[in-house]
Amino acid sequence: MSCLTFLCGSKSGAATRHSEFGDELSGVHNVTFYSYKELRIATNDFSPANKVGEGGFGSVYKGKLRDGQMAAIKVLSAESRQGVREFVTEIKVISDIEHENLVKLYGCCVENDHRILVYNYLENNSLAQTLLDGGRNTIQFSWKTRVKIGIGVARGLAYLHEEVRPHIVHRDIKASNILLDKDLTPKISDFGLAKLIPPNMTHVSTRVAGTIGYLAPEYAIRGQLTRKADIYSFGVLLIEIVSGRCNTNTRLPFDEQYILERTWKLYERKELVALVDTSLDGDFDAEQACRFLKIGLLCTQDSPKLRPSMSAVVRMLAGEREVDENTITKPGLISDFMDLKIKSTPKAKPDTNQNTFSNYNSSGSDTLDNTTLTSAPSSQATMSFTAIYDRSM
Ligand SMILES: Nc1ncnc2c1ncn2[C@@H]1O[C@H](COP(=O)(O)OP(=O)(O)OP(=O)(O)O)[C@@H](O)[C@H]1O
Ligand SMILES: [Mg+2]
Repeated sequence: MSCLTFLCGSKSGAATRHSEFGDELSGVHNVTFYSYKELRIATNDFSPANKVGEGGFGSVYKGKLRDGQMAAIKVLSAESRQGVREFVTEIKVISDIEHENLVKLYGCCVENDHRILVYNYLENNSLAQTLLDGGRNTIQFSWKTRVKIGIGVARGLAYLHEEVRPHIVHRDIKASNILLDKDLTPKISDFGLAKLIPPNMTHVSTRVAGTIGYLAPEYAIRGQLTRKADIYSFGVLLIEIVSGRCNTNTRLPFDEQYILERTWKLYERKELVALVDTSLDGDFDAEQACRFLKIGLLCTQDSPKLRPSMSAVVRMLAGEREVDENTITKPGLISDFMDLKIKSTPKAKPDTNQNTFSNYNSSGSDTLDNTTLTSAPSSQATMSFTAIYDRSM
């Protein structure tokens, strides 16, 4: 696709955009602009039947574009809207990025108050809705497929971290942001999106069970966001891919609820193989699976410096580079921090529905004192991480 839709799109839409946003949009040549009308038609007036999901940024609809192409149409919510200039600047960056393991952004709509992103539609949903959906899905993830997914995600992230200039920190690597095409090739979605939202609003939505389990401790606690925070999240995701379970599962026996704790314990006992998804019925390469799990541990080391770069991770996953076991120590566990805070904030009023980190502002002190955590032990499946502001980028 090219800028043709913008230049030659439906007459009414194009005219509106020119008169309203002429200044802001001048000089934008590589982005496809869709009229609101076209997207309304594509989604049958954003009908609930075409809604495929909802996340922290807004709702996602499946739609058929005028050229017959299927698209995932993400309508950003009112709070995530920003000015046209900022929006288009970021869109330009994202739409220039192309990689086999990254979801392709086709273009956007910026009419009136609307801020809508139009992406390539992926047929096989996300890893969260398939691999980690508690056996309700119909896709069989063979060991070979898991290897392809793990390496593919690593390649996509290495590309964002090391090839794109300026580098992109994803900030939200997790199973629901790994989409699968018809051949189960993984595609990372939502990269670059965090910059599209105003700085006073967090993009980290943790309505979904286990989201907090992907957060590197230094990011969760101090708001320090670097590529190493993504690498931590990737490590958690990699272990999920091998084990077929969500990083947090409060229905499991207490000492198995957090996947990283479990992985570390099994590693210490040299029993890592016990973590591999039993639904594979033993049909997997044990040496390779244990290597993947060790790489997961390396990526989730407490000290960001000890985590390998994504290009090193790709080489280790592909077996082109040794995994140095001497460098594996206990991973950084957010649950350690939570225990600490639960014990040390006796006055905090427990919220019966949510575990909530709140009022954290990374521009404030570097200590933990201004971070409040309330907790109800039975409700870890609905953790809510309400306010991580990142102003460090
Ligand atoms: N390109 C796409 N193709 C097919 N389905 C998609 C696409 N993008 C998103 N979806 C679907 O829409 C759902 C919601 O996506 P969205 O990114 O808004 O939220 P999320 O990833 O679940 O959470 P968060 O906002 O925290 O990232 C996804 O889980 C996925 O099922
Ligand atoms: Mg998403």
